[in-house]
Amino acid sequence: MKKILALVLALCMVFALAACGQAAAPAPAAQEAAPAAEEAAPAEEAAPAEEAEKQIVVGLSLPTQREDIWVRHEKHIRTACEALGATVLTQISDNDAAKQQSQCENLLAQGIDVLIIGAHDAQAAANIVEMAHAEGIPVVSYDRLILNCDVDVYVSFDNVAVGECMGNWFVENVPTGNIAVLAGDPLDNNAKLFRQGAMNIIQPKIDEGFYNLVMDQSVADWKAENAMRLAEDCLTANNNDIVGFVAPNDSTAGGVIQALAAQGLDGKVLPTGQDFELSALQRIYQGTQGMSVFKDTVVEGAAAAKAAIELAKGETPADINGETDNGQMMVPSVLATPTAVTKDNLQEIVETAGLYTWDEVTKQ
Ligand code: BGC
Repeated sequence: MKKILALVLALCMVFALAACGQAAAPAPAAQEAAPAAEEAAPAEEAAPAEEAEKQIVVGLSLPTQREDIWVRHEKHIRTACEALGATVLTQISDNDAAKQQSQCENLLAQGIDVLIIGAHDAQAAANIVEMAHAEGIPVVSYDRLILNCDVDVYVSFDNVAVGECMGNWFVENVPTGNIAVLAGDPLDNNAKLFRQGAMNIIQPKIDEGFYNLVMDQSVADWKAENAMRLAEDCLTANNNDIVGFVAPNDSTAGGVIQALAAQGLDGKVLPTGQDFELSALQRIYQGTQGMSVFKDTVVEGAAAAKAAIELAKGETPADINGETDNGQMMVPSVLATPTAVTKDNLQEIVETAGLYTWDEVTKQ
């Protein structure tokens, strides 16, 4: 009797092992979002327990790590996802839309449960959203809005308000005269919103003749050297008679300041900025940059992680506080409020943010 029982048990094990080995093979490709390793899991009984404990895998596709703020985005999204029990697979596309698309294809092939994208190209990234949706994977549009598609949620700052922070500082600090307005890369929807916000405040001053707008240009690829060249051209064309530059972020502000310095105008003409980059805070302290905008990436990253994990679980993100038109739909949005940083509140914000020490900001 014992022998028969042992034989039956042994046979059962052989079948079970055979089932393990085969399970992955006949399954049609891409039918499930589960990673390949989990598809190979043994039959039914094991599934519910494993399902309950299955760790959510977040795919994170960011456009760049060139600006320090994107390094912070990556870190703070990842930390927040991990704190919620998920793992993160990150890909950086180096400001290349085709690379971003193939990296996202890759993430999808690795079995991610949700995709967070900081899009390099607001239009082109719509393909990625379609691709993810075709596999049942929800998408969070991170920091930059993806246009003309049915993206699930948009997590960002109020980016018109970011531009208004620049505009407010500008009209309060820049005297009457010739001014230049630089905007970010045209492929980035944020660039349009920042400019719109800045011009909400500055345009009335142009209309009343207080300012004379002598340059209104986009900075290709948000590059500091492109901003520097534009500023050089502007200074040359106007015999250095420029009283103010709107620079759309801290890195382009750095380029503008280089052009000003070459003409001995640094510290006399102060550009705007945003991103709370250490180098920009040092320049505000030293008096060569007028202002920056603090967009807390801990807050933005945590909001994206939370929304992504809710979507991965099939839930509606709980913290939606607005809607944003992306040309195809009103995208449910989680939008945070930016803070203007000037010489007056610099130390206070540096100390509350806790990203850098006051010592780092004030060192020469
Ligand atoms: C971001 C800015 C950043 C810029 C360039 C924008 O979309 O909102 O924080 O400076 O891209 O990377």
